[in-house]
Amino acid sequence: MSDKITIAIDGYSSCGKSTLARELAKSLHYVFIDSGAMYRGVTLNALRSGCIVNKEINRGLLIKSLDNIELKFQLNPESKIPELILNGKNVEDLIRTPEISSFVSPVAAIKEVREVLVAQQKAMGLRGGIVMDGRDIGSVVFPNAELKIFVTADMPVRVERRYQELIFRGMDSTREEVESNLTRRDHIDSTRKESPLTQTADAIVIDNTNLTKDQQLDAALELVEKAISEIA
Ligand code: DC
Repeated sequence: MSDKITIAIDGYSSCGKSTLARELAKSLHYVFIDSGAMYRGVTLNALRSGCIVNKEINRGLLIKSLDNIELKFQLNPESKIPELILNGKNVEDLIRTPEISSFVSPVAAIKEVREVLVAQQKAMGLRGGIVMDGRDIGSVVFPNAELKIFVTADMPVRVERRYQELIFRGMDSTREEVESNLTRRDHIDSTRKESPLTQTADAIVIDNTNLTKDQQLDAALELVEKAISEIA
């Protein structure tokens, strides 16, 4: 495989998109970008700078705050996973809390937020050789991606994975809270006006409910090989 393609991975929250994107990028020596981390970074900045008070988002203030945000990814030398740097500080753990998860979908529904982040994401993909996961990657960020994958998994499996991730990170939550957050975010992400989550007609579905991480990766690698052979 010598040609580097662009791979777009979309799907609902906590269905294994980022895991697949990360593993694929590692196998192919591509760049991996978790676009959800960028929306989480904007949400963290909004909470810190008083744009969200008493659970209310001050839209105007939040849009203004976009001028003062610099988002970058930096590879963790040990885990080899890119981590989010917000205005020079590593915020990888801080953006994964239940509090951020509870505000990120309404923040990501704001048109101006999407305009700024989508422009940055498009720029990251100019040279190909990238795997990006999110909600609008195949539809808006990389509509010409050579490979688009739509990842799904049954709700109980998604809840368990997210719950275990929170426990692993030492955060306090219950399965009921996780399910209610996922259900709410699914609804907001797929019904918002600005580039809602959709499965594009040219996306290939991987349902990983009954797949191990390795099986999911193998299925995706087969799709990559096919996509590369089709353009060769
Ligand atoms: O993938 P994630 O759960 O970390 O994403 C966090 C939120 O960001 C999710 O609820 C929807 C939003 N998002 C988005 O609107 N578009 C993307 N490309 C990625 C994430």
